[in-house]
Amino acid sequence: MRISDKAAARLAELGAEVRHGVSMTEQTSLGIGGTTDEVLLARYETIPEVMRLLANEHVPHKFLGGGTNVLVADGELPWVMLHLPKANPGMRVEGNAAYVDASADLGGMVTFCAKRDLGGMEGLIGVPGSVGGALRMNAGAYGTQIGPHVREVELYRAATGEIETLRGSEIRFDYRHTSFAPEDVMLRVKLELPSKSFKEILAGIKICNEKRRASQPLNQKSAGCIFKNPAGGSAGRMIDELGLKGHRVGDAMVSDRHANFFVNADNASCSDMLKLIDDVRDRVHKSCGVELENEVILWRN
Ligand code: EPU
Repeated sequence: MRISDKAAARLAELGAEVRHGVSMTEQTSLGIGGTTDEVLLARYETIPEVMRLLANEHVPHKFLGGGTNVLVADGELPWVMLHLPKANPGMRVEGNAAYVDASADLGGMVTFCAKRDLGGMEGLIGVPGSVGGALRMNAGAYGTQIGPHVREVELYRAATGEIETLRGSEIRFDYRHTSFAPEDVMLRVKLELPSKSFKEILAGIKICNEKRRASQPLNQKSAGCIFKNPAGGSAGRMIDELGLKGHRVGDAMVSDRHANFFVNADNASCSDMLKLIDDVRDRVHKSCGVELENEVILWRN
């Protein structure tokens, strides 16, 4: 979608930068997706005004975080992509509290805190993506989830059109799911983390990295696990047991390393990946009677 010159001029007054015709193959870890205009916001505080402007100009939009858990449609996209401002480092520590921008890199946050002797997040070290994305879906790995550490979230509330702060106790964090509304935008978080020596945290990080390297296709383009695990089960094991590792539609392929990772083997389209997802879901349903739920977020036309 192309932003009109009039809207672009108004956005520039708010400090935002517009980039035309950006390919989402460059912006997503799957390397899949069509093209659209992008808006790089300058300051969190301008978001309510930017949102009002886009609504008045009838410009559909989506916020893109790290792009590591989305499958974006092919072709010219009928919405513009918004990016939160990025500060360097976008995080600070005070006692056992870490204050982190949603646009910060999740792994970067884990190491930043570790160097200041704050731990508890070791399992999240290899989870790709932004802090905002991790908050929205309560990212987790190796027994760690971000949710239990959250004390406050500053967010743009779509329902009120304002920036608000929620206490951790007002937010529900479930397995790969939270109580935020789909259109809410995470802006900043306050985490409370346990004190731990850098050395001890590093040892934990090393163990998680080794486990991840041993089981996941880290050098291929993917969005992490495609399906959530069903209660008490493992989607990866079920798909593997059906002999589907290496199964492909075009260049979309079930990883031969971890069967719940679907990789872009070369130049996969969104439509290839969607067909593969539907096919694998059907096969698991027929054989195991389990309806797998997507973990990856679909942004279709
Ligand atoms: N397994 C197989 N074949 C496979 C994959 C897994 O037999 O192809 C077996 C493993 O041998 C193991 C069991 O299934 O006995 C579970 O596998 P794994 O330890 O890899 O964990 P997972 O349940 O597949 C979950 C998360 C990962 C997270 C790891 C480690 C989900 C959907 N996946 O994977 O998160 O990194 O545990 O904690 O919850 C993600 O969410 O994108 C993700 C990668």
